[in-house]
Amino acid sequence: MAVDLRHGGNREALAEQLGCRPDQLLDASASLAPWTPRLRRPSRQSVRDYPDRRQQRLRQAIAEFHGLDPHQVLPGNGAAELFTWAARDAARAGLNVLPAPGFADYSRALSTWQATKRHEPLPLRWASGFPQTFPDPGWGDVLWVCNPHNPTGQLWSRPSLEFLLDRFALVICDEAFLPLVPQGEQHSLISRVTDHPNLVVIRSLTKLFGIAGLRLGYAVAAPDRLQQWQAWRDPWPVNGFAEHVAVQLIGNSGRYSRWSQRVQRWTDQEGHWMQQQLADCPGVEPLPSAANFLLIRSERSLLPVKATLEQRHRILLRDCRSFHGLDQRWLRISLMQRRDNRRILAALRQTLKA
Ligand SMILES: Cc1ncc(COP(=O)(O)O)c(C=O)c1O
Repeated sequence: MAVDLRHGGNREALAEQLGCRPDQLLDASASLAPWTPRLRRPSRQSVRDYPDRRQQRLRQAIAEFHGLDPHQVLPGNGAAELFTWAARDAARAGLNVLPAPGFADYSRALSTWQATKRHEPLPLRWASGFPQTFPDPGWGDVLWVCNPHNPTGQLWSRPSLEFLLDRFALVICDEAFLPLVPQGEQHSLISRVTDHPNLVVIRSLTKLFGIAGLRLGYAVAAPDRLQQWQAWRDPWPVNGFAEHVAVQLIGNSGRYSRWSQRVQRWTDQEGHWMQQQLADCPGVEPLPSAANFLLIRSERSLLPVKATLEQRHRILLRDCRSFHGLDQRWLRISLMQRRDNRRILAALRQTLKA
């Protein structure tokens, strides 16, 4: 079966291509926190029984965490599943505006429903002070926002996004990486959902907790919209094991806040350090980022560099050709722990000098 391996996080498939074991690869193509919390084993019953179709405990835990009503919350099989349902509403609402470069999964979701879309180019140079003002997105009916923005790492200021809620019939705001960004929560739109039925916020537990394999995300939106999505989708989109884990992770606000502070400190420290180190690498320029990944660009194609890193150093970086508007002169590097960041830098320096 053909899948687009330019999306990050393909350790297994690339190990097969490269003729090595998956655990020999350093995967800096998918941007996850470098640690995964210790988790209690699920009870036998939570695996044996069908999951609760109402997702009551999990919806309650997420709602309490954000100070919402449980009817404003819908857990999903990762943020990716929820994009599919958001896109169904978006297709009906009219012309979709996709800032470019942007995360390719929004286009995938929109294509599912034959939606009309327009790419709005974002400036490919930006200053290092965060947050930044979201650039004028031009005309359209539905706006897809990613905060912080993947792949640029820009953090959009909340006022600059709030202003757009009155201009678009529907705003879909992907906050998958926001809990990893220091002071990021100040720019969340979640608290605006109650007075804006035209707003959908989508979150993911994948990045913050390093649990991409479990598939856990949630949408925050008006109850009647979520009720409709619930009626469309399959009866058990979040499996019992994932639900059990999610309640542990988000149902204890003290634990969540200690964990996110640790992750945010790491984003801050490693982000600054990598920026400085990359600035000294010959032939590439790192761009400022508030998030746990950053872009580098070059005057020439970086694909040979990427290939050498894979083949000789067993390091995976993110091919940026899957982001509309970027080409082979760009790569995205996900932050890792210091030892692994050093390994990436050493391999890059050696390859760029060759
Ligand atoms: C911006 C953004 N949003 C959402 C997702 C998907 O999150 P999930 O793993 O919860 O489906 C990704 C995955 O790469 C992403 O980059």
